[in-house]
Amino acid sequence: MSEVKLQNREADRTVLLTGAASGIGLAIRARLAQAGFRVIGWDVTADGQSGIERIDVTDRKTVARRISQIEAQGPLYGLVNCAGIGGLGALVDIDAEHWDRVIAVNLTAPALLTRLVLSGMMARGRGAIVNIASSFGMVARNGSTPYSVSKAGLIHLTKCLAVDLADSGVRANCVCPGVIDTPLTASLLRND
Ligand code: NAI
Repeated sequence: MSEVKLQNREADRTVLLTGAASGIGLAIRARLAQAGFRVIGWDVTADGQSGIERIDVTDRKTVARRISQIEAQGPLYGLVNCAGIGGLGALVDIDAEHWDRVIAVNLTAPALLTRLVLSGMMARGRGAIVNIASSFGMVARNGSTPYSVSKAGLIHLTKCLAVDLADSGVRANCVCPGVIDTPLTASLLRND
C-alpha cells in the first residue's frame, strides 16, 4: 500500500494534538513533525519529559487558559482531537458516572476545544479540525454503548462543523479507524 503524503506547504505551521502520549496520537505526532508541522501535544498522562504538556481535556479552565496563551504566541493552524477513552457496557449495565465520563472525554471535550480554536481560525480564514472517531461510531457493537454513542456523536459533530464552516476556509474532517493495537484496545480486551 502506498504511503499517504501529508501536505504542509508552509513550514512550522502549528497543530494542537490531544492524546499525544500514546498509541494513535503518538504516531500522528511523529508524522506531523516529519511533515514540518510544529506540534503542541497534550495528554493527561504526560510526564513532562517528552515535550508533551500534561493537560486533561475535560479541565475547561486550564484548556481555555492554554488556548489563549497559544493564540497569543501565534496562529494555530490545526487541531487534532485524538484523546479518548474506552467505554464498555450495554446501557442497562452501566452507571451514570461511567456514561458521563465517556461522553465528557470523547465528545464534549473535543466539541468545546474546537469551539475555542475556531474563532481564531475563522478570523484568519484558514485552519483544519481533525477528529479521531471510530468505526464503532458507525456500526453498533454489542457491549460498548457509551463508547459507540460518543464516537457517533463525534462523527455528527464533524458533519455539522463541515457544513457550518463551508464558506469559512476552515476544514473539518473525521477519521474512523478500525481496531488498532494500542494500549486502549489492550485495556478493552482486558475489560478494565
Ligand atoms: P491510547 O489509550 O493509546 O491513547 C489515548 C490517549 O488519550 C492516552 O495517551 C490518554 O492518556 C489520552 N487521554 C485520555 N483521556 C484524556 C483526557 N481526559 N485528557 C487528555 N488526554 C487524555 O488509545 P488509542 O488507541 O491511541 O486511541 C486514540 C484515539 O483513537 C481515541 O480517541 C480512540 O477512541 C480512537 N480509536 C482507537 C482505535 C483503536 O483500535 N485503538 C479505533 C478507533 C478509534
